[in-house]
Amino acid sequence: MASKAILMGKPGQRQVEEASQRLKRMFLIERELMKTLGGYLVSVSDWELKKRLPKHMWQDSLRANALRTRVLELRYPRRDVDHGHDANLQQLLAALIRCGSDAALLEGVYYVKSELCEAYEAYVTAADPLDDAPTLEFMAGFVPQLKQQIAEAERLYAGLPERAASRPSAWQAAIAAHFQAVGGVTGPERPEALPLPHVLQRPEYVPPLHPARDPKFEYAAYHLPKEMPTKFIDRQVWQGINHVNEIFSAEITALVLWKWDGMPWEFYLDCARWSFDEARHCMMGEERLQAWGFEAGVDYPICADPYVSNSAYGEEAVFALLHRFEMNGPNLKSKLKSEFEAVGDTASSQDFDYDWADESIHLQYGYKWLLHRMGGDNDKYEEIREAAYHRYWKEFLVAEHEKWDYEPFRARIAARIAAIEAEAGAGHE
Ligand SMILES: [Fe+2]
Ligand SMILES: [Fe+2]
Repeated sequence: MASKAILMGKPGQRQVEEASQRLKRMFLIERELMKTLGGYLVSVSDWELKKRLPKHMWQDSLRANALRTRVLELRYPRRDVDHGHDANLQQLLAALIRCGSDAALLEGVYYVKSELCEAYEAYVTAADPLDDAPTLEFMAGFVPQLKQQIAEAERLYAGLPERAASRPSAWQAAIAAHFQAVGGVTGPERPEALPLPHVLQRPEYVPPLHPARDPKFEYAAYHLPKEMPTKFIDRQVWQGINHVNEIFSAEITALVLWKWDGMPWEFYLDCARWSFDEARHCMMGEERLQAWGFEAGVDYPICADPYVSNSAYGEEAVFALLHRFEMNGPNLKSKLKSEFEAVGDTASSQDFDYDWADESIHLQYGYKWLLHRMGGDNDKYEEIREAAYHRYWKEFLVAEHEKWDYEPFRARIAARIAAIEAEAGAGHE
């Protein structure tokens, strides 16, 4: 006869093995959604969406990291968090990037995010507040953050020309049905292989060599003219334009986050942060220019000239060029900060100050990960970095200067500056 035990009023709900299985699955979903947004960013054409997605991707990386760290704690000393994932689920998540449009990207990724959000709520409700307190500490914050992301995605979706006439679209419905079929967020994992439904069987995603730009933007081959006027007000404007065009840096760091599989986990965290920083730098410039009456992509160019100059040589070359540019960043930006502050443009000066702080981190990221890609070979690292800048970028500029004279932007910028000066002059009389 079994010996008697004292039973507590409240029975146990979830053992460590089950909790860690569930968190590991959530980690996989977060990681893959983050990578999908990263890989597709260069193909996104809607300008609002392009600027907003890197923040989501960065937040996704932080949630993924918290989950991953917790799985490692719970399973210590087991280190299998990055391997042994559900193949059916992975296959579905990998299909989300074959969306083909901004709208379909949001339909797929944010459907899965809404499922994740519900699963976090359910996990938090059912978890033992004492036993699983370290998980609850971070997971409670996931729910409002995801709700905010989903609401923002809905708002952006409503502004997309190719949005579905009725929801869900065939694409989203197929994703939802198959997601449920493979076990959803919580599982259990299905032992047999479930082929993707026909709607989701599309060709592999190939990132474009020319990043997509909003159709409302006018053509530009490069973002700064060969010769720039040097009056202070001109420099304020050119620095703003330079900031906005840093969107290419958000695109390349997001692209490699998707493309380079099997890198150390910190690489993905660094790239998500880096991409978000560059989107912030871009928005800093746009805000200032907007306040001075310039319309993005119409009064001044938004293109991806550094990206285009190197993309035919592979994403490592574009990444190397960004790193090469950033080597001048902290020094340049710190000088700009003092200079702009001295003449009272504290808005620009504050932007440069934060930008400078970001750039110092990026410099380390660039060195670390480019060297890693070059197998730790310092000569190769220098070679690719210098070729990207001195050959491909410089040659590109020479060729494009011959073909395009920066119009109609030169005239529009000059006219706008003249109007600002006239308004300021009138104000002094
Ligand atoms: Fe930047
Ligand atoms: Fe940067």
